[in-house]
This record gives sequence, C-alpha cells and structure tokens, in this order.
Amino acid sequence: MKKHLLSSFVMILLLFAHTACGSGRSAGKNAQRNAAWKTPEELLSLMTLAEKAGQMTQAERGNLLKGDITEYALGSVLSGGGSTPAQNTPEGWVKMFNDFAEESLKTRLGIPVIYGIDAVHGHNNALNATILPHNVGLGAIAAGDTDRGVKAAYTAGRITAEEMRATGARWTFAPVLGVAEDVRWGRTYESFSENVDIVTLMGANVIKGLQNNGAAACMKHFLGEGQTIDGRNQGNALLDRAGIERILPPYRVAIEAGAMSLMPSFSSVNGVKMHESTELLTVLLKDEMGFEGFIVSDWAAVRQLSGNSYKEQIAHAINAGVDMVMATNGRGSWVDFIKYLQELVEEGTVPMERIDDAVLRILKFKQRIGLFDTPLTKKAGVIGSNANRAAARALVSESLVLLQNRNNVIAKLPEYKRILVAGQGAHDIGMQCGGWTITWQGMHGSITKGTTILEGIQNATKGKAAITYAADGRAEGTFDAVIAVIGEDPYAETEGDRNGQLSNRMMEGGAEKDKIDSYHDNSLQINIRARDIDMLWEAYDYDCPVIVIMLSGRPMTIGDEYQDWDAFIAAWLPGSEGGGIADVLFGKRDFTGRTPYTWRKAIDGEILFPFGYGLTK
Ligand code: GLC
Repeated sequence: MKKHLLSSFVMILLLFAHTACGSGRSAGKNAQRNAAWKTPEELLSLMTLAEKAGQMTQAERGNLLKGDITEYALGSVLSGGGSTPAQNTPEGWVKMFNDFAEESLKTRLGIPVIYGIDAVHGHNNALNATILPHNVGLGAIAAGDTDRGVKAAYTAGRITAEEMRATGARWTFAPVLGVAEDVRWGRTYESFSENVDIVTLMGANVIKGLQNNGAAACMKHFLGEGQTIDGRNQGNALLDRAGIERILPPYRVAIEAGAMSLMPSFSSVNGVKMHESTELLTVLLKDEMGFEGFIVSDWAAVRQLSGNSYKEQIAHAINAGVDMVMATNGRGSWVDFIKYLQELVEEGTVPMERIDDAVLRILKFKQRIGLFDTPLTKKAGVIGSNANRAAARALVSESLVLLQNRNNVIAKLPEYKRILVAGQGAHDIGMQCGGWTITWQGMHGSITKGTTILEGIQNATKGKAAITYAADGRAEGTFDAVIAVIGEDPYAETEGDRNGQLSNRMMEGGAEKDKIDSYHDNSLQINIRARDIDMLWEAYDYDCPVIVIMLSGRPMTIGDEYQDWDAFIAAWLPGSEGGGIADVLFGKRDFTGRTPYTWRKAIDGEILFPFGYGLTK
C-alpha cells in the first residue's frame, strides 16, 4: 500500500507541475525564498505560532480587507457557493486568485495561499462553464454499467479540473462520498447513490479525473451524512462499528486514489458532532486509515460544537483533528480564530504537536499541488469549450433512466410530425442544472450558457416535425405526442430537506417564494409541483401519448400519477447540456441509465421502481 501511495504521489506531483498554467513569478525569487528551506518540515521549523495559526485559517473572499492575507499570513481563502469575482470570466477569476496569491507572497516566509471552491458538477460558479450532471445522474450511469460509470466519473473530474485550471483554481470541495439512504435529505443529488459500491467506484474516479488534471480534491463530508434520522441535513446518525464500517469504503478507496484533503460533516454520529469527534477524525481516519492529507472544516461548522465559547469550540475541533478552519461568520470569526488558537496553545489546551501536525499536513498539500513553484497563474484559458460540452452531453444521454414505455412510444417519436413540448422545465437552464450553479441555491431561468431540453428537441427534429412549446401545457391544435417536463425547483442543502426541517434562510425569509411555496406543499413528501400537475392535466387532454421527463435531484413521490403517462424518463439534474436528452429520444439510442435510488410512491411507501431498475427501450 505504501509503495502504491508513493507512486500516486509522484504522479500527482509531476502532473501538477505540468498542468499549472505557468508560473507568474520569477524563478529567482522563488529560489531565493525557498533557499531558506528544502522540505515542509524545515519550513515548519521556521514558522512562528502566529504564522502557524494563520496557515490553519480559511477566510471567505468577502470577509477580507486588502492586506489581511499578508498581515495575518492566512493559509487559505474560499468562495462560498456563488461567491464570484466582480468580473465572472476566466480573466476575472485569474486576477482574483493572483491578487490573493501576491498578498501571501509578501509574508515573511512567502507561503502561497490556497483557494478553495465548490466545483461539484463542473466549475459551476464560473459563468458559461460546462455544467455537468450532478452526481445522482453520474450514479445512474454506473447503476446501469459500472465500466461506463468509471469512465463517466473520470471524464467529469477531468472536465471540472480543466475548467478550474483555466481560471486559476486548483482546489475543489468535491466529491461528496456520502451514501444517501433517505431521499428526504436535501443533498441526495450530491451523492452518487444509496449503493455504497457505486459511491466508492464513482468517488475514486472523480478524484483521479480531478487530480490527474491539476485540481486537488476534497472528500466530503466525513462521516454518516447520508444516514441521519429522517434524512435531516446536519442531523444525527446512529451508527455502531459495523454501521460505520459499511460506509467507509468510499473513503478508504479515495485515500488509496490519492485524495489530498477532507471535509468533515456538519452531522453527528451517535450524538457527537463529526467536527469534534477525535475517535473518527484522528483515531479512525488519520491513524487507522492512514489519511495523510489535511482536514478542512465546513462552513462555520466550529460554531455548532459543544463548549461555552468560540474559544472552547475551537479547542474541541482542533484537538479532534481538524487542521484548517473555514471561519466564515464574518471577518471577526477568522480574526478571533487566530487569536484564540494562539491563546489555547500558550495555555496548553491545544498542544503544539497538534498545531505542527496540522500545519505540516497543509504545507505538504501545498507542495504536492506545486503551489510553491507556481503560486500564480500566467494567463486565463478557455471554459465551456465545444469539446467539453459534447462530452457533458454524452454523459447526459448515458444518465437517462427509462422507467416506463407503453407500446414502445419512445421508438415512435422520430416518426411524429406534431409534438407539443410542455412544462417550465423544458426551457429552463437553471432548473436542469439544480443547486450549486452560478449561485449556491441555483435558480430558474437562463442563468448560464447551455442547451435546454426544448432546444435539443427543436434541433433534433428540424425539418421533420413541428414543435410547439407551452410552459403551462395549453396550446391550440392537435398533436401526435406531448413531451411534458416536470421537476423540482433548484435547491441546495437544508432547503432541499423534506422532513419538516426548515432551513435558516426559509425561517429568516431569505429564500425565494417559489422555494418556500414548494417546501410547504411538500414539507414531508417530494410531490410533483402544483404547476406541473396543472400542466399535466392540460397534456392529458390532447388524447395523444404523453411522455414525461423529470428533472429532479432524487426520486419524487409521484404516487399513482405515472399511470396516466405513456412513457416516463428520469433525467435527474443534467446540467447545461440538455440536448443530450433529445439525442436519446430522437436518436434511436438505447437507454443505459438505471435508477441509483430506490423509488417509492411516497416516503416510506411501496416501492415503485427498485434500485437498479430501468428499461433499455
Ligand atoms: C457548505 C457545504 C460544503 C461546502 C462548504 C463551502 O455549507 O456544506 O459542502 O463545501 O459550505 O461552500
């Protein structure tokens, strides 16, 4: 195992050096600066306690004043979901990253800052990047054919890495390795499947795709996020040792694949918050499983820990094994983190050995990704290339799951002359992308460059059929078939929970009205939206076959509604290349996807389609 790890280490090192977009710094300066030390251990020995505390700090880009990175020797900056540079272009991203990096190079030891982003289905914060199917769709590919799934996972990682590097980004908080076992969980679509073998296979290959192409991965969220009671996001999972062992393979194999960082879960195991679980973060993950990367906390997660003060919470997190803290409750949260951490060490509450272990892990990470040699990006590259969009489109086609096809109506589609396409989701890039797209929660509308389902159908039938579009399903005339697109409103994290749990934003009224309405309609189920039911009732009235396509992050609780459908296709959250759907509908291609989740008529209701189900034609 060690030999294997060494070879992947060397491979990653070589590839990072090769793929970095060139160094903007004169070799002379680096050489001079690096002359003081040769290894991360030597660099660590030169650092003061204040510099070590700074290295363990991650601040959100919006919580920084100019000069902060230099003054506090910050180790990392991040973009929360949707936190983008003023100019959301590759050039704008490169400038932002380089400005932060330049500040870090002015520190006494010139340790470059590392920037983290959530590129979870392509470089999804970047406008007009290629947006890939969310993991649920990739999991559908693997549920149909594991070899095809492995290739899809690697391709997804590769495209994400290429478009990250084109903007200067090097580190993504991805992939999710949670095994979602309750579809009421708002993050079900970020998981590949309820099946641990699929999650293991897909996670490791996304990581290879990312890291072989110049982007460092961050396995998340360790551990048990998909096993919480009632599928509550950030809830509590009751797991004995066997229960823990059962969901460890995705992490074990990801570590063997060379994953370089990890994010704990907000959730708890047996009532202990993961971010303060010494047993799971240090004893299990670092000692038993041999994880040599570093652990970065989740968004202000330290503030949820036990303890009567922020300082006590910090002690619990760091002593449990957290190496870097995402301190994102305003600028004060990271300034105080640095202050309190130094006090905790001086008081002996946090041993210096723990600090040195954390900092060394971070420095080794920065060395492995080539950050010391190429801290800056010379020039912006291309995102959203035709080649990447074509590859993403193929993934969309492979991810589709055919759940019903009465009288083989799908095969007849290319013969039809008059087709009505109905539903808001048929012409809504935001809805087909879902959450974590341009903004954290995602949103409806033409939010970024891509092809809608309708546009794909129009292109595929040009000159062969008359296509009519009606979002509400109301149109004049008669039709040979109706293609009706239904689905979920975009959401992320707790706003997608369907277990009675309201997100903070919903409680504070910050969520969109659509989303709050949809939540209240469905707070304990994942029902078809009212506007889609109305559209379907219009569609049924044309007395022709109705082909339903669903855009969702998980199986929706459709009851018996499907009995009125001639065909039913799960498209999951396909991303920007919705044309991949028409390629199958009109391309006389087989359906290769299979459902990666058990599909029930209602929560805890009878099974409608079992895990792995799907028709080929
Ligand atoms: C979020 C998510 C995590 C993400 C982080 C940074 O709350 O839990 O997956 O990487 O914050 O955006």
